[in-house]
Amino acid sequence: MASPRVILTGGSKGLGLSVLRILLERYNARVTTLSRSYPDELRAVVDKYGQERVIVVQGNVGKSEDNVKVVNKAVEAFGGLDSLILNAATLDPVGEPTMVRRDQVTPADQ
Ligand SMILES: NC(=O)c1ccc[n+]([C@@H]2O[C@H](COP(=O)([O-])OP(=O)(O)OC[C@H]3O[C@@H](n4cnc5c(N)ncnc54)[C@H](OP(=O)(O)O)[C@@H]3O)[C@@H](O)[C@H]2O)c1
Repeated sequence: MASPRVILTGGSKGLGLSVLRILLERYNARVTTLSRSYPDELRAVVDKYGQERVIVVQGNVGKSEDNVKVVNKAVEAFGGLDSLILNAATLDPVGEPTMVRRDQVTPADQ
C-alpha cells in the first residue's frame, strides 16, 4: 500500500507518539490521531510532515461523538480508512462502551 490511511488513538505521547513517528517515517502513512491534549512534541510532528500527512483531533475516546468526529475527519481528509490502531486508554476504564452507528459517519465515496 503506497500511503496507508490510519487512525491512531493516543498519538500525543508515549508509545502512541512513537508509533505515529514510525507510521510517518517508515510507512509513508497518512494519519489521523485522537487525544485529549495537543502537546509541543505532537505539534512538532505536525509541523514536520504537514496536515497532508497528519491530522490531530482533540477528544476523548470515551465519548462517542469524539470517535465519530475522528472517523469523519479521517475520511474527509484522506478519502477512506485502511487501518485503525486503538492505543489510547486500554488499561484505564473510560466509561461504558458506546456504539457508533454506520449512519453517523460519512461514507468514503461521498
Ligand atoms: N507503557 C507500557 O509499559 C504499557 C504496557 C502495557 C500496555 N500499555 C498500553 O499501551 C497504551 C499506551 O501506553 P503509554 O505508556 O504510551 O501511555 P501514555 O504515555 O499515558 O499515553 C497514552 C496516550 O493515550 C492518550 N489517551 C489516554 N486516555 C485517552 C482518552 N480517554 N481519550 C483520548 N486519548 C487518550 C494520551 O493522550 P492524552 O493524555 O492527550 O489524551 C496519550 O496520547 C495504553 O493503552 C496502555 O494502557 C502500555
